[in-house]
Order: sequence, then structure tokens, then C-alpha cells
Amino acid sequence: MSLADEMSYARFVSDVRDALGLDLRFYKAPQMMRRIATLMRRRGFDDYGAYFRAIVEDERLRTEFIDRVTINVSEFFRNPELWAELDRHVLAELARLPHLKLWSAACSTGEEPYTLAMLLHARRALAGVWLLATDIDEPALQMARAARYSAKSVQSVPADYRARYFVPDGDAFRVAEELVSMVHFMRHDLLRDPYPKGPFDLIVNRNVAIYFTDEGKKHLYRSLAGVLRPGGYLFVGGTEQIFHPEQYGLEQAYPFVYRRKS
Ligand SMILES: C[S@@+](CC[C@H](N)C(=O)[O-])C[C@H]1O[C@@H](n2cnc3c(N)ncnc32)[C@H](O)[C@@H]1O
Repeated sequence: MSLADEMSYARFVSDVRDALGLDLRFYKAPQMMRRIATLMRRRGFDDYGAYFRAIVEDERLRTEFIDRVTINVSEFFRNPELWAELDRHVLAELARLPHLKLWSAACSTGEEPYTLAMLLHARRALAGVWLLATDIDEPALQMARAARYSAKSVQSVPADYRARYFVPDGDAFRVAEELVSMVHFMRHDLLRDPYPKGPFDLIVNRNVAIYFTDEGKKHLYRSLAGVLRPGGYLFVGGTEQIFHPEQYGLEQAYPFVYRRKS
């Protein structure tokens, strides 16, 4: 990357932060620049300045930009073997507690918190369970609240759960009301906002740290560990690993699951 490219990207990042409150400094730059370049080319822009002015003025371009840089891909039971392990070890233990506080942090369009709610409901009544689900992207949260999913996306739900927790709705499916009503959706930026009040028994934070710089990851894991109760768990994505978890007061409990030390 030339110095001029680097400088104009840095300027764009700073303009976006001031205008939209989205801090791209903590996202890996090469990956982010590729995404933005593709988007700019598609819309006929070849410099950051003109593209920045356009996204400020045009709401559709702005929504498209935020959607594209935040990357909303999600699915029910993503990495099913890891959810099965979480269920067998962690949820089996937590389900015995009278009160539970859970957080799906960067929940995208809702598949992740509803997966957690289904597994938990299959183990215990949901009374006494408080499940928070947050994301930076408001349109993704709107889809999560609507809880209506295409037949294709529901395919990854095991048949018994599909039968029990989904209701056909035209050519799609709706998540059962008892699950929807127990999830509290809220907009939250993991890099800028104060963290919700814990202590949480379990935090699910998957497939977002992969986009963050090392500095962003440090902020993330320090903050997440800070709102876990001692003995509480952090479930990460199937390609993610926390280096030196002890620096955050965490220890590896199971593959892709960390425990806050007492
Ligand atoms: C690839 S999705 C992962 C969704 C889900 N956790 C999963 O594993 O299927 C990444 C999500 O992280 C969200 N995200 C990106 N940056 C964020 C930030 N700074 N704070 C909160 N959420 C963020 C995006 O909006 C997107 O919904």
C-alpha cells in the first residue's frame, strides 16, 4: 500500500468515525480496505473523499456501507459440534442454577441467541433466565427482533428443535413466541460503548473478533472478562483462540470455551 493510500484511508476512517460513530481503527485494515474498495468500485467511486461525501448524503449508500463493513453472516447452530459440546458441559451445569444471566455479544440477525435459547429451553424452564443480545448494526437487530427466517436458513436447525421451536409463516418460519419474548435485543458497540452490567454466567462472542486488530481484541476480551462472574464462561468462534487467556483472568475450560478464574 502506498503512503498516499494509507493517508487517504486514515482520513476516511477518521471522517467515518466523526460522522457515523463507527470506529474502523480497530478492524484489520487490509481486509477492511478490500471490502470498501469493492463497494466503491460497484458504486462508481475511485476515491475515498467522494465516497465519504456520498455515504453521508445518501441514506441507501450509508446503510449499504455499514451493512457491508460489519459483516452480518450468521446461522443457527453455527459449528454444531461446538454447540453440542457447550450444551453437554456448560449448559448442563448452568441449567441447574435458579437465575441465569446470558449475553450473545455481536448477535447479528438473531440466529445465535435463538440457538442458545432453544438449547436452554430444552434443558429447563426459562423463568429466571435473562438473555441479552446485542450488535452494532441496527438493521441486523431489526431482523433479529422480527424472528422470521427463510426455510433455507432454518435447515441448519436439527429437526426436533425445528418442530418444537418454529412456526410456519407463509414461505418462511417464525421462532416460537416464548423464545422471542425472552431475548432482550439492544444496540451495542463492543469497541466504543460501556459494557452492560454483569455479572454474566455465559457470554457468547463468536466470529467478530476475527475482524479486529490485536488492540481491538485486547479491549474486547478484557471488557468481556470484566463482566463475567468468577466461574462464568466465554464461548468463542470455531476459528478463534485467545492468546494468553490468563492476561484477562481467563482459562481454557473446553475447546473454544474459556472460564473466568475465581
Ligand atoms: C460475522 S457476524 C457473527 C454473528 C454471530 N455471532 C455468529 O457467529 O454467527 C459479525 C457481527 O459482528 C457485528 N459487529 C461488528 N463490529 C461490531 C462492534 N464493534 N460491536 C458490536 N458488534 C459488531 C456485526 O454487525 C455482525 O453482526
